[in-house]
Amino acid sequence: MGLLRIVVAVMALTRATLSAPAKPSVKYCDSESNVCYASSTVGIGPISYRLAIPNVTASPFDILLQIVAPKTAQWAGVAFGGHMINNTIAMAWANGNTSVISSRWASVHEIPEPYEAAEYTVLKGSVTNETHWTVTALCKGCSSWVHDGGSRTVMDPNSPSINLAWAASPYPVGDPADNYTMLSIHSEHGTFSLDLASAKTDNFDSYVKTLSE
Ligand code: HEM
Ligand SMILES: *[C@@H]1O[C@H](CO)[C@@H](O)[C@H](O)[C@H]1NC(C)=O
Ligand SMILES: *[C@@H]1O[C@H](CO)[C@@H](O)[C@H](O)[C@H]1NC(C)=O
Ligand SMILES: *[C@@H]1O[C@H](CO)[C@@H](O)[C@H](O)[C@H]1NC(C)=O
Ligand SMILES: *[C@@H]1O[C@H](CO)[C@@H](O)[C@H](O)[C@H]1NC(C)=O
Ligand SMILES: *[C@@H]1O[C@H](CO)[C@@H](O)[C@H](O)[C@H]1NC(C)=O
Repeated sequence: MGLLRIVVAVMALTRATLSAPAKPSVKYCDSESNVCYASSTVGIGPISYRLAIPNVTASPFDILLQIVAPKTAQWAGVAFGGHMINNTIAMAWANGNTSVISSRWASVHEIPEPYEAAEYTVLKGSVTNETHWTVTALCKGCSSWVHDGGSRTVMDPNSPSINLAWAASPYPVGDPADNYTMLSIHSEHGTFSLDLASAKTDNFDSYVKTLSE
Protein backbone atom coordinates (compact mmCIF):
# COMPACT_ATOMS: atom_id res chain seq x y z
CA MET A 1 0.00 0.00 0.00
CA GLY A 2 1.41 3.40 -1.00
CA LEU A 3 1.91 6.24 1.46
CA LEU A 4 -0.86 8.32 -0.11
CA ARG A 5 -3.37 5.53 0.34
CA ILE A 6 -2.35 5.16 3.97
CA VAL A 7 -2.73 8.91 4.55
CA VAL A 8 -6.17 8.88 2.93
CA ALA A 9 -7.17 5.85 4.99
CA VAL A 10 -5.90 7.49 8.20
CA MET A 11 -7.98 10.54 7.39
CA ALA A 12 -11.06 8.46 6.68
CA LEU A 13 -10.68 6.55 9.94
CA THR A 14 -9.78 9.64 11.99
CA ARG A 15 -12.72 11.69 10.83
CA ALA A 16 -14.94 8.87 12.05
CA THR A 17 -14.01 9.49 15.67
CA LEU A 18 -14.71 13.19 15.38
CA SER A 19 -18.04 13.07 13.61
CA ALA A 20 -19.77 9.77 14.21
CA PRO A 21 -20.53 8.46 17.69
CA ALA A 22 -21.39 4.79 18.11
CA LYS A 23 -24.93 3.97 17.06
CA PRO A 24 -27.16 2.18 19.59
CA SER A 25 -27.09 -1.60 19.85
CA VAL A 26 -29.58 -3.25 17.50
CA LYS A 27 -30.68 -6.79 16.71
CA TYR A 28 -29.15 -7.99 13.43
CA CYS A 29 -29.99 -11.25 11.65
CA ASP A 30 -27.79 -12.49 8.82
CA SER A 31 -29.97 -13.22 5.79
CA GLU A 32 -27.85 -16.17 4.59
CA SER A 33 -27.24 -18.07 7.85
CA ASN A 34 -30.25 -16.73 9.80
CA VAL A 35 -27.92 -16.21 12.77
CA CYS A 36 -29.03 -13.27 14.94
CA TYR A 37 -26.67 -11.03 16.89
CA ALA A 38 -26.76 -7.91 19.03
CA SER A 39 -24.90 -5.44 16.83
CA SER A 40 -23.27 -2.05 17.29
CA THR A 41 -21.81 0.09 14.54
CA VAL A 42 -19.05 2.61 15.12
CA GLY A 43 -17.36 5.32 13.07
CA ILE A 44 -18.03 6.44 9.53
CA GLY A 45 -15.99 3.41 8.38
CA PRO A 46 -18.29 2.11 9.62
CA ILE A 47 -17.35 -1.04 11.53
CA SER A 48 -19.95 -3.38 13.01
CA TYR A 49 -19.28 -5.53 16.07
CA ARG A 50 -21.80 -8.30 16.73
CA LEU A 51 -22.21 -10.84 19.54
CA ALA A 52 -24.48 -13.82 20.12
CA ILE A 53 -24.35 -15.85 23.34
CA PRO A 54 -26.17 -18.88 24.74
CA ASN A 55 -29.21 -18.37 26.98
CA VAL A 56 -27.27 -18.40 30.26
CA THR A 57 -27.53 -16.37 33.44
CA ALA A 58 -23.84 -16.18 34.32
CA SER A 59 -20.30 -16.37 32.92
CA PRO A 60 -18.51 -18.43 31.65
CA PHE A 61 -20.14 -18.77 28.25
CA ASP A 62 -19.01 -19.09 24.65
CA ILE A 63 -19.40 -16.11 22.34
CA LEU A 64 -20.14 -15.87 18.64
CA LEU A 65 -18.36 -12.75 17.42
CA GLN A 66 -18.78 -11.10 14.04
CA ILE A 67 -16.83 -8.06 12.85
CA VAL A 68 -17.63 -6.37 9.52
CA ALA A 69 -15.16 -3.69 8.46
CA PRO A 70 -14.28 -1.75 5.33
CA LYS A 71 -10.93 -2.65 3.80
CA THR A 72 -9.58 0.78 4.85
CA ALA A 73 -9.44 -0.85 8.29
CA GLN A 74 -6.32 -3.04 7.97
CA TRP A 75 -7.15 -4.44 11.37
CA ALA A 76 -10.06 -3.93 13.78
CA GLY A 77 -10.24 -5.07 17.37
CA VAL A 78 -12.64 -5.35 20.25
CA ALA A 79 -11.75 -5.44 23.96
CA PHE A 80 -14.35 -7.26 26.03
CA GLY A 81 -13.75 -5.23 29.21
CA GLY A 82 -14.22 -1.81 27.61
CA HIS A 83 -10.59 -0.60 27.62
CA MET A 84 -7.29 -1.57 26.04
CA ILE A 85 -5.48 -2.78 29.14
CA ASN A 86 -5.89 -6.06 31.06
CA ASN A 87 -8.87 -7.64 29.33
CA THR A 88 -9.56 -10.10 26.54
CA ILE A 89 -8.92 -8.59 23.09
CA ALA A 90 -9.91 -9.99 19.70
CA MET A 91 -8.11 -8.54 16.70
CA ALA A 92 -9.04 -9.39 13.12
CA TRP A 93 -8.10 -8.53 9.54
CA ALA A 94 -8.52 -9.61 5.94
CA ASN A 95 -6.35 -12.35 4.44
CA GLY A 96 -6.90 -12.86 0.74
CA ASN A 97 -10.58 -13.71 0.30
CA THR A 98 -10.92 -14.87 3.93
CA SER A 99 -10.08 -13.32 7.30
CA VAL A 100 -8.02 -14.06 10.38
CA ILE A 101 -8.69 -13.51 14.08
CA SER A 102 -6.07 -13.28 16.80
CA SER A 103 -6.37 -13.64 20.57
CA ARG A 104 -4.51 -10.83 22.33
CA TRP A 105 -3.90 -9.15 25.68
CA ALA A 106 -2.25 -5.83 26.56
CA SER A 107 -0.92 -5.02 30.01
CA VAL A 108 0.48 -1.70 28.75
CA HIS A 109 -0.34 0.64 25.84
CA GLU A 110 1.81 -1.32 23.43
CA ILE A 111 1.24 -4.01 20.81
CA PRO A 112 -1.04 -6.59 22.44
CA GLU A 113 0.58 -9.97 23.04
CA PRO A 114 -0.86 -13.39 22.14
CA TYR A 115 -3.31 -14.51 24.83
CA GLU A 116 -3.68 -18.26 25.27
CA ALA A 117 -6.65 -18.33 27.69
CA ALA A 118 -9.08 -17.48 24.89
CA GLU A 119 -9.41 -19.57 21.74
CA TYR A 120 -11.17 -18.63 18.52
CA THR A 121 -12.51 -20.87 15.79
CA VAL A 122 -13.05 -19.10 12.48
CA LEU A 123 -16.45 -20.04 11.07
CA LYS A 124 -18.37 -19.72 7.82
CA GLY A 125 -19.12 -16.15 6.79
CA SER A 126 -15.51 -15.04 7.19
CA VAL A 127 -15.11 -13.54 3.73
CA THR A 128 -13.45 -10.60 2.08
CA ASN A 129 -14.88 -8.95 -1.02
CA GLU A 130 -13.97 -5.81 -3.02
CA THR A 131 -14.91 -3.43 -0.23
CA HIS A 132 -15.26 -5.22 3.11
CA TRP A 133 -13.95 -8.03 5.25
CA THR A 134 -16.03 -10.04 7.70
CA VAL A 135 -14.88 -12.39 10.40
CA THR A 136 -17.29 -14.76 12.14
CA ALA A 137 -15.77 -16.73 15.00
CA LEU A 138 -16.58 -18.74 18.09
CA CYS A 139 -14.67 -17.67 21.19
CA LYS A 140 -14.09 -19.96 24.12
CA GLY A 141 -12.60 -18.08 27.08
CA CYS A 142 -13.69 -14.53 26.22
CA SER A 143 -16.43 -14.03 28.83
CA SER A 144 -14.15 -13.71 31.85
CA TRP A 145 -10.51 -12.98 32.51
CA VAL A 146 -8.00 -12.75 35.34
CA HIS A 147 -5.89 -9.64 35.78
CA ASP A 148 -3.77 -7.77 38.29
CA GLY A 149 -2.44 -10.95 39.78
CA GLY A 150 -5.70 -12.72 40.51
CA SER A 151 -8.93 -10.75 40.35
CA ARG A 152 -11.42 -12.14 37.86
CA THR A 153 -13.75 -9.98 35.78
CA VAL A 154 -16.86 -11.59 34.34
CA MET A 155 -19.18 -10.34 31.61
CA ASP A 156 -22.82 -10.06 32.72
CA PRO A 157 -25.02 -11.87 30.18
CA ASN A 158 -28.12 -10.20 31.67
CA SER A 159 -26.92 -6.67 31.00
CA PRO A 160 -28.78 -4.56 28.41
CA SER A 161 -25.69 -2.38 28.18
CA ILE A 162 -22.17 -3.75 28.46
CA ASN A 163 -19.27 -1.47 27.70
CA LEU A 164 -16.84 -2.66 25.01
CA ALA A 165 -13.81 -0.92 23.49
CA TRP A 166 -12.84 -0.96 19.83
CA ALA A 167 -9.92 0.22 17.76
CA ALA A 168 -8.94 0.17 14.10
CA SER A 169 -5.86 0.91 12.04
CA PRO A 170 -5.13 1.86 8.43
CA TYR A 171 -1.65 0.28 8.67
CA PRO A 172 -1.27 -3.21 7.15
CA VAL A 173 -0.38 -6.04 9.54
CA GLY A 174 3.02 -7.76 9.08
CA ASP A 175 1.83 -11.13 7.77
CA PRO A 176 -1.94 -11.37 7.33
CA ALA A 177 -1.83 -15.19 7.29
CA ASP A 178 -0.25 -15.32 10.78
CA ASN A 179 -2.39 -14.75 13.88
CA TYR A 180 0.78 -13.98 15.88
CA THR A 181 1.89 -11.24 13.47
CA MET A 182 3.28 -7.78 14.28
CA LEU A 183 0.87 -4.92 13.86
CA SER A 184 0.83 -1.15 14.14
CA ILE A 185 -1.14 1.18 16.37
CA HIS A 186 -4.72 2.29 15.78
CA SER A 187 -5.59 5.62 14.22
CA GLU A 188 -8.80 5.66 16.23
CA HIS A 189 -10.32 3.94 19.22
CA GLY A 190 -13.41 4.30 21.35
CA THR A 191 -16.03 2.56 23.42
CA PHE A 192 -19.56 1.49 22.67
CA SER A 193 -22.37 -0.25 24.49
CA LEU A 194 -24.00 -3.47 23.44
CA ASP A 195 -27.25 -5.06 24.62
CA LEU A 196 -25.81 -8.41 25.74
CA ALA A 197 -29.13 -9.56 27.20
CA SER A 198 -30.61 -9.34 23.70
CA ALA A 199 -27.64 -11.31 22.31
CA LYS A 200 -28.90 -14.39 24.20
CA THR A 201 -30.40 -17.15 22.15
CA ASP A 202 -31.80 -20.63 22.72
CA ASN A 203 -30.43 -21.44 19.24
CA PHE A 204 -26.76 -20.93 20.10
CA ASP A 205 -25.70 -24.54 19.50
CA SER A 206 -27.57 -24.72 16.21
CA TYR A 207 -26.02 -21.39 15.15
CA VAL A 208 -22.56 -22.81 15.79
CA LYS A 209 -23.46 -25.98 13.92
CA THR A 210 -24.84 -24.02 10.94
CA LEU A 211 -21.72 -21.87 10.80
CA SER A 212 -19.43 -24.90 11.11
CA GLU A 213 -20.85 -27.01 8.29
C1 HEM B 1 -0.10 -2.39 18.06
C2 HEM B 1 -1.23 -2.33 18.71
C3 HEM B 1 -1.58 -1.23 19.69
C4 HEM B 1 -0.80 -0.21 20.18
C5 HEM B 1 0.66 0.08 19.90
C6 HEM B 1 -1.65 0.58 21.06
C7 HEM B 1 -1.24 1.71 21.75
C8 HEM B 1 -2.06 2.55 22.46
C9 HEM B 1 -1.65 3.76 23.12
C10 HEM B 1 -0.22 4.31 23.12
C11 HEM B 1 -2.74 4.28 23.71
C12 HEM B 1 -2.78 5.55 24.57
C13 HEM B 1 -2.79 6.77 23.71
C14 HEM B 1 -4.13 7.02 23.10
O1 HEM B 1 -5.11 7.23 23.83
O2 HEM B 1 -4.21 7.05 21.86
C15 HEM B 1 -3.85 3.43 23.43
C16 HEM B 1 -5.14 3.65 23.85
C17 HEM B 1 -6.21 2.79 23.59
N1 HEM B 1 -6.18 1.64 22.82
FE1 HEM B 1 -4.54 0.84 21.98
N2 HEM B 1 -2.91 0.04 21.06
C18 HEM B 1 -2.89 -1.07 20.25
C19 HEM B 1 -3.94 -1.92 20.01
C20 HEM B 1 -5.21 -1.77 20.53
C21 HEM B 1 -6.27 -2.72 20.34
C22 HEM B 1 -6.20 -4.04 19.59
C23 HEM B 1 -7.35 -2.23 20.97
C24 HEM B 1 -8.67 -2.97 20.98
C25 HEM B 1 -9.82 -2.53 21.31
C26 HEM B 1 -6.98 -0.95 21.56
C27 HEM B 1 -7.81 -0.07 22.24
C28 HEM B 1 -7.43 1.11 22.84
C29 HEM B 1 -8.32 1.94 23.62
C30 HEM B 1 -9.80 1.69 23.85
C31 HEM B 1 -7.55 3.00 24.10
C32 HEM B 1 -8.03 4.13 25.02
C33 HEM B 1 -7.44 4.01 26.40
C34 HEM B 1 -7.61 2.65 27.02
O3 HEM B 1 -8.71 2.06 26.93
O4 HEM B 1 -6.62 2.13 27.57
N3 HEM B 1 -5.66 -0.72 21.27
N4 HEM B 1 -3.41 2.37 22.66
C1 LIG C 1 -10.43 -17.80 -2.45
O1 LIG C 1 -9.08 -17.87 -2.81
C2 LIG C 1 -8.62 -19.21 -2.95
C3 LIG C 1 -7.10 -19.15 -3.12
O2 LIG C 1 -6.73 -18.09 -3.95
C4 LIG C 1 -9.35 -19.85 -4.13
O3 LIG C 1 -8.92 -21.19 -4.26
C5 LIG C 1 -10.85 -19.83 -3.83
O4 LIG C 1 -11.56 -20.33 -4.93
C6 LIG C 1 -11.31 -18.42 -3.53
N1 LIG C 1 -12.70 -18.47 -3.08
C7 LIG C 1 -13.61 -17.61 -3.49
C8 LIG C 1 -14.98 -17.80 -2.93
O5 LIG C 1 -13.37 -16.70 -4.25
C1 LIG D 1 -3.55 -18.97 16.30
O1 LIG D 1 -4.25 -20.04 15.70
C2 LIG D 1 -3.96 -21.31 16.28
C3 LIG D 1 -4.66 -22.35 15.43
O2 LIG D 1 -6.03 -22.09 15.35
C4 LIG D 1 -4.41 -21.31 17.73
O3 LIG D 1 -4.12 -22.55 18.35
C5 LIG D 1 -3.71 -20.20 18.48
O4 LIG D 1 -4.20 -20.10 19.81
C6 LIG D 1 -3.94 -18.85 17.76
N1 LIG D 1 -3.15 -17.81 18.41
C7 LIG D 1 -3.60 -16.57 18.58
C8 LIG D 1 -2.65 -15.61 19.20
O5 LIG D 1 -4.71 -16.21 18.24
C1 LIG E 1 -19.11 -6.95 0.52
O1 LIG E 1 -19.35 -7.26 1.88
C2 LIG E 1 -20.09 -6.29 2.58
C3 LIG E 1 -20.17 -6.74 4.04
O2 LIG E 1 -20.80 -7.98 4.13
C4 LIG E 1 -21.46 -6.12 1.95
O3 LIG E 1 -22.17 -5.09 2.64
C5 LIG E 1 -21.30 -5.72 0.51
O4 LIG E 1 -22.57 -5.68 -0.10
C6 LIG E 1 -20.43 -6.76 -0.21
N1 LIG E 1 -20.17 -6.32 -1.56
C7 LIG E 1 -20.37 -7.10 -2.58
C8 LIG E 1 -20.04 -6.51 -3.92
O5 LIG E 1 -20.83 -8.23 -2.48
C1 LIG F 1 -2.50 -4.47 34.33
O1 LIG F 1 -2.01 -5.65 34.93
C2 LIG F 1 -0.64 -5.54 35.29
C3 LIG F 1 -0.15 -6.93 35.69
O2 LIG F 1 -1.01 -7.51 36.63
C4 LIG F 1 -0.52 -4.49 36.39
O3 LIG F 1 0.85 -4.34 36.77
C5 LIG F 1 -1.03 -3.16 35.85
O4 LIG F 1 -1.04 -2.17 36.89
C6 LIG F 1 -2.44 -3.30 35.30
N1 LIG F 1 -2.77 -2.06 34.62
C7 LIG F 1 -3.98 -1.50 34.71
C8 LIG F 1 -4.16 -0.20 33.97
O5 LIG F 1 -4.91 -2.00 35.30
C1 LIG G 1 -34.05 -18.12 28.00
O1 LIG G 1 -34.54 -19.11 28.89
C2 LIG G 1 -35.60 -18.62 29.71
C3 LIG G 1 -35.91 -19.70 30.76
O2 LIG G 1 -36.09 -20.94 30.13
C4 LIG G 1 -36.80 -18.29 28.82
O3 LIG G 1 -37.84 -17.77 29.60
C5 LIG G 1 -36.37 -17.21 27.82
O4 LIG G 1 -37.41 -16.95 26.90
C6 LIG G 1 -35.14 -17.66 27.05
N1 LIG G 1 -34.65 -16.53 26.26
C7 LIG G 1 -34.32 -16.61 24.98
C8 LIG G 1 -33.84 -15.36 24.33
O5 LIG G 1 -34.36 -17.64 24.33
